[in-house]
Amino acid sequence: MDKQIITIDGPSGSGKTTIGKLLAKDLNLTFFSSGAVYRVITKHYLETKTLNFENLDILSTDPIEFKIDKKHYFEEDLYTPEINEKSSELAQQLEIRTIVENILKFIYDSSRNGLVIEGRDMGSVVFPNSKNKIYLDSSKKLRSKRRMSQSNNIETEEDLTNRDQRDSSREHSPLVIPDGAIVIENNEVTIDEVVNKIKESLELP
Ligand code: DC
Repeated sequence: MDKQIITIDGPSGSGKTTIGKLLAKDLNLTFFSSGAVYRVITKHYLETKTLNFENLDILSTDPIEFKIDKKHYFEEDLYTPEINEKSSELAQQLEIRTIVENILKFIYDSSRNGLVIEGRDMGSVVFPNSKNKIYLDSSKKLRSKRRMSQSNNIETEEDLTNRDQRDSSREHSPLVIPDGAIVIENNEVTIDEVVNKIKESLELP
């Protein structure tokens, strides 16, 4: 029997990580933020000025720890305004998307019971056969409010709008509502209400 794969796509600040982590915990699945892989490649690029590397190892998914060649990268290194912006730019490149896609499939294969994974193209491109696709949306005002309240990684409404615009209009794997996805508006509802709504919609493997 195939392992469970639940995809959550949506724009920045729509609540994908908060909701996804709770859902994964409830269902005893692994949670992963696909953006973290774009972010670590970006961090490595900013340090070395090259996109070339031999190995990218995932040492832990929670909290995130990666190793690129000999250098370790931790979750707290990856969520900065500079990396928000630059990762969205580098994520336009097909070569990078292909590397990340293979890493994400490896994470799914290595997960114990299955995966809840969030991003921009999880249900449309990376796991198109998932039976459980969610598209989480939220008003720009609320999304921006969520981002402005992240004390270590503030993102202004303007920055968020530009990043969403780039992520939605790029040539390769833009953010779209995947075929078959359930669209949930994360406005004026509690986190538990959203998690329960998703759970009620799930098709079990
Ligand atoms: O989800 P995040 O903010 O950590 O993602 C950072 C950037 O990575 C995002 O602006 C675009 C890119 N990304 C992507 O292109 N596809 C994904 N599935 C996830 C992230």
